[in-house]
Amino acid sequence: MSTELIKVTINGKDFEVPKGARLIDVCRDKGFDIPSFCYYSDLALQASCRMCLVRIEKMPKLQTSCTIICTDGMIVTTQSEEIEKAQRGMTEFLLANHPLDCPVCDRGGECELQEMTFDWGGLEERFTEKKNYYAERYLSPMVANDPQRCILCKRCTRVCDEWMGEDAIEAGGRGANTVIGTYLGWLDCSQCGNCIEVCPTGTLLDATYRHQTRPWELAQNITTCNFCSDGCQMSLGSRGGEVLRSVARDRYVNGINGEFLCVKGRFGHPFINHESRIRTPLIRYKKGGKLIPATWDEAIRHVADRLDKVADEHGRNSIGVVGSPRLTNEALYVLRKFATELVGTENYTTTDLWSLKSFFKNLGAPLATHRDIRYAKAIVQIGGDPSELQPLTGKQIRQAVRNDGATLVLVNAVPIRLREQAKVFLHVRPGTEDAIVLALAGSSNDSLAVRKTGVDASVINAAREAIANTQGDVVIMFGHEVSAAGQAVIAQFSQTFAGEGRRILLHPLPFFNNSVGAHAVRMIDDSSSPGEILDLVGSEIRALYLAGSFRPEHLKGRDGLLSRLDFLVVQELFENEITAAADVVLPAASYAEQDGTFTNNDGFVQRVRQSIPPLHQSKPDWMITDQLAKELGMDWGYGLSASAVFREIGEKVPAFAGMRYPLLKDETRPVQAKFEINFTDVSADLQAIQDRVQSLPDDGEKINVTPDVGTELFRLGMLTDKVAQFHLLASGNPRPETTAVSPLYQITAADGRGSTRIR
Ligand code: SF4
Ligand code: SF4
Ligand code: SF4
Ligand code: FES
Repeated sequence: MSTELIKVTINGKDFEVPKGARLIDVCRDKGFDIPSFCYYSDLALQASCRMCLVRIEKMPKLQTSCTIICTDGMIVTTQSEEIEKAQRGMTEFLLANHPLDCPVCDRGGECELQEMTFDWGGLEERFTEKKNYYAERYLSPMVANDPQRCILCKRCTRVCDEWMGEDAIEAGGRGANTVIGTYLGWLDCSQCGNCIEVCPTGTLLDATYRHQTRPWELAQNITTCNFCSDGCQMSLGSRGGEVLRSVARDRYVNGINGEFLCVKGRFGHPFINHESRIRTPLIRYKKGGKLIPATWDEAIRHVADRLDKVADEHGRNSIGVVGSPRLTNEALYVLRKFATELVGTENYTTTDLWSLKSFFKNLGAPLATHRDIRYAKAIVQIGGDPSELQPLTGKQIRQAVRNDGATLVLVNAVPIRLREQAKVFLHVRPGTEDAIVLALAGSSNDSLAVRKTGVDASVINAAREAIANTQGDVVIMFGHEVSAAGQAVIAQFSQTFAGEGRRILLHPLPFFNNSVGAHAVRMIDDSSSPGEILDLVGSEIRALYLAGSFRPEHLKGRDGLLSRLDFLVVQELFENEITAAADVVLPAASYAEQDGTFTNNDGFVQRVRQSIPPLHQSKPDWMITDQLAKELGMDWGYGLSASAVFREIGEKVPAFAGMRYPLLKDETRPVQAKFEINFTDVSADLQAIQDRVQSLPDDGEKINVTPDVGTELFRLGMLTDKVAQFHLLASGNPRPETTAVSPLYQITAADGRGSTRIR
């Protein structure tokens, strides 16, 4: 928007507002309430509800303020008898076919239509005609639909199209018989539930939550999602120690994601209260024996004795310490301190699937925030698939291109869905992404890149020109396909591409909610990778302390390896193949049961807040490590306070310098970690890429098939495996016989472990 100011008079008061500002936004910003249904900031205009009427001097009729751009000298009235009469009339029309039975509607108590009717509706309904009636139905395992409650604001269809790029839901029928529905009666989409979130009525509903409770019975707690690295802010609704839903509704929370959540963030929470959570500490007193429930004191003493013994007999490096990138910054910080200061081992790391060590070591430009992505003029994405793996980033890219004409340069071995938005698509052979990094770093490498990637030189040139011709922000993002040397070169792309009026910003695409935090607290800075740690198991490493589990990818081809350890202790939420090999299992609390912070791929350090008491006997990971340290003779003085741990992080970790919980309390103003930005010499990395690329074959098949929606999103992991609806999605979201009843009661899902009745 322009920085030029113009004069506008609203209800007799003069204001200076930016040229190009929308009238409804200006009125609200200046404190004049304007009712609306169809207007939704940053979505295409609909202008159908006519609730936002105002009087503008010299204009013949009342005007919809959502469609008016302010002009200099505009004189506006937002409140008058005439306007109120029109608005009350509109509310009456909206209710003409709407049932007046809020007490049985699942949206009752947090419904915009209900609130608007209280404020702007009449006391009595004057329509006596029979109302339209449609039966309630399921549109998918996640989305329920009560068609007659629709006011046709079309927020749902617009978010599906503009945010998700899916167009899975549309209005059908004509006139008063228009209803919102799907093309073949069943939603074959990414199941984000954003259409539910933005619906101002009880038409689209969370099928996994409805009829369970009323919103006013819920304790609402603002926290950070624990799935991907985007770090969406959400409100967890709990009652009596049970988390019942997760929403991003703007009446409760207003974070980097607005009202957006993806299927995991919105529907993945049932793992928290799942019946199979580990309940007590468990000890296996002798190899081959059973895990036997124990008290915390017994278990901690047992672990301390055994770790002491291994260190005495085999030295400090014989103990490996490994944390999950899902843990909080606090847990990873305390774990690193345990590894380095108490045990003194060099063998510590996280169980991430790829490391950003090289990127952060060579960081030469600021990290791009999700807002930066939304308003970038050009986005260069090398590898990765944000629509499936970092869905908020995917949404921001889509909106930047669709709503503001940003240029997307996509380098990918797979024709992913974002290809539809790409202006330049470099469709490379699998594993050759580094060759494009090399080419972008200097055109003398073009012929090598052409040979290895199978991309035409003109396309590589077009990519380079798209960046060089951009005025404004250029966001460069990359996925796990880029090698460590490639990361270093990308981290210094500002040296290649910065120019007059152009800013280079960087955005890594790691997989986990705290992958970036693990780097910030240096849990994987100088340390080994999970593979290197596992390679030492049974030789140098004799005992492992795991906070979280290795991933199946790490254990592939390493059957029975963990049984070679003298001692294995695991902190986990659920029993799995790692706990089956463990000598001690300690029940860990989920993110919903503790205070802490995660660091997302913007570098934002965001609060995790306790929503419910820890389940059974579980404890937050950092507390378990702290208790173990105490047993081993080191008291770090945290008491039971996560805030005390974070205070120390603010003092000792440069990226978090000066941070305290009170500074992070407002999710609308997230605080970015201060990663050191330097110019570094990456010539050795360029040479390493060149050598690697030279060794790649000159031919090889390209992947020409676009993966289905949900290929990654619906993949069952340890957490989503606990959600019955995810089993249906993972099985291809089959359409049930009738949509009148939840598919959970009708379908037997094949989930890879044979045919299982899932409920
Ligand atoms: S769940 Fe998401 S993708 Fe599916 S119809 Fe709703 S908005 Fe569209
Ligand atoms: S279903 Fe909800 S969001 Fe969609 S048009 Fe109807 S009222 Fe609006
Ligand atoms: S996009 Fe990522 S952070 Fe946001 S809700 Fe989905 S999994 Fe959670
Ligand atoms: S908000 Fe302006 S017409 Fe609906």
